[in-house]
Amino acid sequence: SSRFWNLPCGILLLSLPLIAGWTASNCLVTEGSWLPLVSRFFLNCPLNSRLPLLAVCTKVTNLTQALEAVPQSVEGLCLAGSISVLPQDALSNYPGLKVLGLNLRLTRLLPGALRGLGQLQELSFMAPQSKNYLFLHPNALDDLRSLQKLNFLGPCLDRNSSIQLPTSLRQLVVRYSCLQDVGELDDIFPDLAHSPFSGDARTLDVLDLSFNWQLKMASPGALQGLRLGTLHLDHTKMDAAAVLSLGLQKLKSLSVLFTVTAELPAETVAHFELQELQVGNKQIGHITLEALAFCHSLQSLVLQNGGLTALPPNFLAAMPRLQRLNLAGNQLQRVRLCTNETGFVSGLWTLNLSDNGLLALSPATFSCLSHLRELLLQRNQLVSLEGEVFQDLWRLEILDLSRNPLVNLGGGWLAPLPSLTTLNLLNTHILFRPTWGFWGPESLHHLRLQLPSAPAGVALSLPERLTSLELQAVPGMKHRKLFPNVFPILETLTLDGWGLHLETQNISEIFPALRQLTLLGSSLEALCSQDTSNFFLWQLPGLQSLKVRGDGHSPRPCCITGLPNLQELKLDALKYRARPRPVQLQELVGELPRLRVLQLARTGLETLSAAAFQGLGSLQVLVLDWEKGLVLDGGLQERSPQMPQYVYILTSSLACRCANAWLEPWFEGSPRTYMWVQPPQLCPAESGGGSKHPLFPFLLNHCQEALELKLFGGSFAFLLLLISLPLLQEARNSWVLYLQALLRAWFQGLRGQKNEGKNFLYDVFVSHCRQDQGWVVQELLPALEGCPPEGQGLRLCLPERDFEPGKDVVDNVADSMASSPITLCVLSHRALRTPRCRLELRLATSLLLAAPHPPVLLLIFLEPVSRHQLPRYHRLARLLRRGDYCVWPKEDEGKDSFWAWLRGRLGQPRCR
Ligand SMILES: *[C@@H]1O[C@H](CO)[C@@H](O)[C@H](O)[C@H]1NC(C)=O
Ligand SMILES: *[C@@H]1O[C@H](CO)[C@@H](O)[C@H](O)[C@H]1NC(C)=O
Ligand SMILES: *[C@@H]1O[C@H](CO)[C@@H](O)[C@H](O)[C@H]1NC(C)=O
Ligand SMILES: *[C@@H]1O[C@H](CO)[C@@H](O)[C@H](O)[C@H]1NC(C)=O
Ligand SMILES: *[C@@H]1O[C@H](CO)[C@@H](O)[C@H](O)[C@H]1NC(C)=O
Repeated sequence: SSRFWNLPCGILLLSLPLIAGWTASNCLVTEGSWLPLVSRFFLNCPLNSRLPLLAVCTKVTNLTQALEAVPQSVEGLCLAGSISVLPQDALSNYPGLKVLGLNLRLTRLLPGALRGLGQLQELSFMAPQSKNYLFLHPNALDDLRSLQKLNFLGPCLDRNSSIQLPTSLRQLVVRYSCLQDVGELDDIFPDLAHSPFSGDARTLDVLDLSFNWQLKMASPGALQGLRLGTLHLDHTKMDAAAVLSLGLQKLKSLSVLFTVTAELPAETVAHFELQELQVGNKQIGHITLEALAFCHSLQSLVLQNGGLTALPPNFLAAMPRLQRLNLAGNQLQRVRLCTNETGFVSGLWTLNLSDNGLLALSPATFSCLSHLRELLLQRNQLVSLEGEVFQDLWRLEILDLSRNPLVNLGGGWLAPLPSLTTLNLLNTHILFRPTWGFWGPESLHHLRLQLPSAPAGVALSLPERLTSLELQAVPGMKHRKLFPNVFPILETLTLDGWGLHLETQNISEIFPALRQLTLLGSSLEALCSQDTSNFFLWQLPGLQSLKVRGDGHSPRPCCITGLPNLQELKLDALKYRARPRPVQLQELVGELPRLRVLQLARTGLETLSAAAFQGLGSLQVLVLDWEKGLVLDGGLQERSPQMPQYVYILTSSLACRCANAWLEPWFEGSPRTYMWVQPPQLCPAESGGGSKHPLFPFLLNHCQEALELKLFGGSFAFLLLLISLPLLQEARNSWVLYLQALLRAWFQGLRGQKNEGKNFLYDVFVSHCRQDQGWVVQELLPALEGCPPEGQGLRLCLPERDFEPGKDVVDNVADSMASSPITLCVLSHRALRTPRCRLELRLATSLLLAAPHPPVLLLIFLEPVSRHQLPRYHRLARLLRRGDYCVWPKEDEGKDSFWAWLRGRLGQPRCR
């Protein structure tokens, strides 16, 4: 639509309806790559970051209205609210939709409700309340030719529905519903088991019936003939044995966590020759050898939270194909997986023994696991480890020992693990030992370590070839030196708490390859200069990502600056607000020319002004989270071409101050930035008690003075709104005329886009007010219009002289401005006091901001005008290129250089 003509190009932008005034909608729009930044607003929503453009709308009561704020090109859309009926063609404006989530109180879908969604791949019906019945027409899904995944998360389905499933369907999920018998599915989806087209059995990858708390029966033959990949029955009252009677033709994987299944479902495993089984339930207690004998087909077994205290002998030998074993959350204080009599070697790749209360590991525990790649032992009670435990694990790559009260590690305990790449020793109590000089295998690349307590002066010796390192300091411990002095390939460093003795000067020599730095705890202060400048001291030219999470009370802001390659910055929980004056954005960020993502949470930030964006030329997304009383400086609107493309203000409040009054009209017309402020934004009640007022209507009523100045806003809607405001009455006629002129000029600019390189009727449009006419006629005209060498040979357009008689004044102004490549504004004190003149200047400024091929704007001050007299125009100066304004000198000797300047700006003399 024409609203976007003044945008810098970019298909995505063009498709954003930037009218998305948040006052009118609760929809948040984002690109997939930015989804992680706003993911908590997409909760319960099946959207993923592979989709290029996504939207989520909450509190939807009128669908038509809500969708006005959603670009047609979205590929993922979630709607939450209280709509009960989805009408025909409800979403047919979104033919490219791939994923749709409906968290509405839907009771029925009218036929054709999903028409036009031929590309939809995933559809979810969610119900905020349980026992919400949803009636689907049998043909409701007919148009969804590409549907692969269908989720009902909450609503109950009527047994008579007879819903026809698309043939493309691969996954069906019915969770939190009212199912009591798997057989009900047969009525709801009569073609579930048998495809109506081929007559053959249907194939599904996944059927997920978990969290149907009432589900306890399986009518025999309910899924007769279905070929199924995975069946989920977790959190139901089903017994895994009942799966046998369903009539499934094929099943590869079964999950029955938290069901009434009280033992290993041996028969079921054997019948289907299951490859994967997940079972977990306190009642299991132990595993019988008889049951195990049926499980030889298993490749993956999860036996979680089963209350197991011991494993049967030959446990692994009974499952020769087993690759993944998860025994987490049981009560195995000791574990014996291998017996050395038989010489059996297991093919196990992954073993998860976390959360078990293991007290010790005997030397032969893992002796038959020479294929093991991953061993997870976190959250146990291990106090000491000797190398012999690992002696046969020569393929092991990942070892997690975190959250164990580990004190002693035998000398050379890692020596038997030549393939180890990843080691986690966080939250342990390891004591320093002098024998620690060697840190295990060459291959170790990823290390997470709680700094061992050690005598002062002892350097912490680490492997040199690390690529990622996380160090956790215990509060109060002495700072340690690092050894070696250089980590040549370390890319990722996380410092939790401080604890290291690192010089600021040569940090980039120690970590020459550092790309990602995360500082947790109060560590930012150590890195901030202590003089008045307060800027970040670590000069890391290669750094791309910096994340800082403070402890919630830092004494003063530290400005992150001088990191030429930083692309992502997150500052969290710093809270400088205890200081006497509020924090400004430019105190937190400085020169970061490559920064694309800036996330600020709980920093105590208050003021956001244009100055802060000067050093952030590449910023694409700004997220402000948990900030209170934000003030967005009005200067941002002229800055808007340089503002980030997306600004999200989440769980934060805007200050109820007139300084924010310009925002609403700007939101509605903002030509480039997509800005979303999480509603509701409120002003306190005037008389203390009583109800609060919505922010913007309140500001509109109380801040007219502030609003009047904000004409640069730039949307037609805003301008038309302004026209009708009573505050303009004093100068109604001229204002209205000029506003109309502005619109006309814009439209002409739009048309002008098509005929680039057109011949302009005039060279310069001169905007001046009547009071300055004398100067224009006596000085300016001869100098510019006269033929060279005295004059410049230019064709000027003067409103008084050149307006076509009889033509509408509005047309005249608009046409003249659009037909001159240069607009010259002559300003004086008198001019600035005249509303009409001010308006003309604004008009020119707006053109400059809005036009696709902006005219050159030059300013001439007839007398020095102080900044204070230019309260509304000082921002203008920023828009001007350097040297686009000049003061007319009082003395004669300055005049030559004045004319020289002007000629230089206007270009070559010419004469026709
Ligand atoms: C929903 O909003 C649209 C557009 O704002 C309006 O035309 C329509 O009347 C509204 N419908 C209801 C039921 O309020
Ligand atoms: C569903 O079917 C039963 C019997 O098959 C019938 O009594 C009932 O009225 C039907 N309900 C609807 C909503 O069609
Ligand atoms: C191991 O088990 C724990 C506890 O259930 C779980 O959090 C973790 O994701 C599991 N890891 C793997 C790789 O299965
Ligand atoms: C393995 O065998 C040796 C003798 O060959 C025996 O001493 C040891 O106790 C056995 N270990 C286990 C765990 O059975
Ligand atoms: C550089 O760092 C090393 C090790 O941290 C330190 O010993 C050395 O004194 C530092 N050099 C300079 C010039 O700061």
